[in-house]
Amino acid sequence: MAYEAPSKTTREELETATAQELRSIYAYHISVNPNLTTPSIPPTIPKVYEDTVAMHGEGIAQMAVSHYQGMFQNFLVGLVNAKRVLEIGTFTGSSAIFFANALKRNGVKPSGTNKPVIGLDISKDYAKIACANFAKAGVEDYIQVIVGDARKNLAKLEGQVFDVVFLDADKTSYKDYYDTVLEKNILAENGIIIADNTAFDCVTPFVNIPAPVADDAAPLNVSFSGHPERKEFGKAIHEFNEYIRKDPRTEAVMVPLFTGITLIRRLNNSNNN
Ligand SMILES: C[S@@+](CC[C@H](N)C(=O)[O-])C[C@H]1O[C@@H](n2cnc3c(N)ncnc32)[C@H](O)[C@@H]1O
Repeated sequence: MAYEAPSKTTREELETATAQELRSIYAYHISVNPNLTTPSIPPTIPKVYEDTVAMHGEGIAQMAVSHYQGMFQNFLVGLVNAKRVLEIGTFTGSSAIFFANALKRNGVKPSGTNKPVIGLDISKDYAKIACANFAKAGVEDYIQVIVGDARKNLAKLEGQVFDVVFLDADKTSYKDYYDTVLEKNILAENGIIIADNTAFDCVTPFVNIPAPVADDAAPLNVSFSGHPERKEFGKAIHEFNEYIRKDPRTEAVMVPLFTGITLIRRLNNSNNN
């Protein structure tokens, strides 16, 4: 998910901003212009975002991974030397294009009909736009989008193995996606699951406030007025976080970047005692 553009832009405004404000202003600028890292942004990515804003508006377009997050995920694909990636939630194609480029850098070449990146998305319209964007990016041979409800289609991938699984669709189903990926052995032995949007935003109110900030260490009573779906999303992600935290099958670490991403790896049986 991309950051919102900051309202403070002039030197005078920045000089009077609080440390907290400066932190989010820097976070935004790094996310759109990640000049602190080795650039690995596929050339068509800025245009994919621009076109998505033009078609669906900025609020919806922000569902796409930011440049910085895409680069971070590229790095992870390199780190595990991934050959195949499964993405649950493809939208207009940004993260899939990042993944395809990262696989190319790993030396993966598409062969036959079994493409190295599989995307699942419930929206036929988004999938159509994504496929057009893949062609413009020259990675159409690398990515296949399966249109339909991932809650049904994920299990049908049993028998296929992926080194990276990216969870980025409906937040209320993360737990089911996670369980299916593990139970159907869809995750490679040394693979990783990347779960997006696992902290901050609407998840935060469900997390107990630690003492000494609050004596009763209770969750916040946030009303989410007018946005009941955000409450449902936050609650589901909080329950997902708690579930994986206690799950002996895996080890997970939440990275407090973007809106929070959790990296999860399977523990093998000998580590599991
Ligand atoms: C946050 S967006 C994905 C953004 C994308 N990964 C990117 O970086 O551009 C979430 C996507 O999940 C899809 N989605 C929501 N519920 C779904 C479901 N049950 N099955 C499959 N896709 C779903 C939506 O259509 C949307 O395109």
